[in-house]
Amino acid sequence: MPRPVTRRTFLGQAAGTGLALGLTRTAARAAAAPSPSAPAVPVTKPVADWPRWDPRDEAALLDVLHSGKWGRTAGGASRVKEFEAAWAARMQARHCIATSSGTTALLTALGALNLGPGDEVILPPYTFVATFNAITASFALPVFADTDAASFQIDPARMAAAITPATKLLLPVHIAGTPADLDALTALAQSRGLTLLEDACQAPLAEWHGRPVGTAGIGGCFSFQASKNLTSGEGGAIVTNDETFAQLCYDFHTPGGTKKSASSGRGANYRLTEFQAALLLAQLTRFEAQAKTRDANAAYLSQLLRQIPGITPATLPAGATRSAWHLYMFRYDAEKFAGLTRAKFLAALAQAGVAASAGYTSLNTSAHVTALATNSHYQRLYGKEAMARWVDRNRCPVNDRLVAEAVWFGQTKLLGSRTNMEKIAAAIAGIQKNAGELARS
Ligand SMILES: Cc1ncc(COP(=O)(O)O)c(C=O)c1O
Repeated sequence: MPRPVTRRTFLGQAAGTGLALGLTRTAARAAAAPSPSAPAVPVTKPVADWPRWDPRDEAALLDVLHSGKWGRTAGGASRVKEFEAAWAARMQARHCIATSSGTTALLTALGALNLGPGDEVILPPYTFVATFNAITASFALPVFADTDAASFQIDPARMAAAITPATKLLLPVHIAGTPADLDALTALAQSRGLTLLEDACQAPLAEWHGRPVGTAGIGGCFSFQASKNLTSGEGGAIVTNDETFAQLCYDFHTPGGTKKSASSGRGANYRLTEFQAALLLAQLTRFEAQAKTRDANAAYLSQLLRQIPGITPATLPAGATRSAWHLYMFRYDAEKFAGLTRAKFLAALAQAGVAASAGYTSLNTSAHVTALATNSHYQRLYGKEAMARWVDRNRCPVNDRLVAEAVWFGQTKLLGSRTNMEKIAAAIAGIQKNAGELARS
């Protein structure tokens, strides 16, 4: 039996992150012990498949190092400001505020909206735990709305059903980099007078009716964490077309200085560093080309996998004109594979050299989430009985089934060749052929 794989360990393994900086062992040692006489040669190519970098990234980092301006508060020309302008332009948004992570982008946005105790926020269960954590950091109440099994995205009808008079925010996630149904979600937010914020942490370059995601509602949050399609190790950003919200976010994410917005008395330091911004600017130079490769490979892979009974690739909601393909997800039907369990299917895939993951476990029923029901602060704020009922409110039967059937490939697989896609499909077809034998072994 393979060891249970979390999203992060899977992506880490898939990326081969043996060394934190992605250097070869020799290069890492050299970097740790620089000698003044060492020749100024570029460090060797990383062993890891992800992240990818070349002398442009090295030069960008060294420029910041030598400038002595390592943070945006140093003033003057700033890579962070440059990145914010570039990201806003690329995402067709009027404003961008760079942050230290996707989590802090969400914390900043929720802080700027002054979410707090008593406020309910509706989110999907098929997401990374950070979406949930960003809500509890404000002592607001997260409420889960079930998933649409075909797309793996939040089901807008379930989101509508979860609304109560206490609901303040709709927080859909564009999971795997595929847009959730933004037509239905914006209509819902408008008709109920609610704010919509997109967790687009996995979805840079994803598009809805040809427009990048992130500005359908008040704004969108992105992550540039190590596994992400655009990365600086850690990092994040908020995009918005709303000037007041942009100012509130800017003021929330940095202490000190002249505040442009009316203060709510809350704030933090969630600033991106100049090093991270320099890396992001360098990564942007190859970002679109990588995205195009993922687009083409994902389309081809889906075409091949749809021909295999029991393999159902996640669909794109009707208005989704582009996925970021951070993950490639499909449902696995063991019955069509002679009862071969998903765990054995994954092991057979690994044996065939195709690393895959079972994806998220059930977030809404996890020990981390249900612990909130007995959290003394939450019991005091919302009442013991209400917190006990809250566990029931969060039931998501469609998602329960999805977490048992899902299989993922990480985004780096989609950076391979067309032949690689054929090999993946052939490996799955081969497993199906021998499924009976594999199931008995
Ligand atoms: C859907 C989602 N939301 C939020 C986050 C948080 O981003 P970060 O890891 O940069 O804090 C992530 C990323 O890992 C994510 O995938």
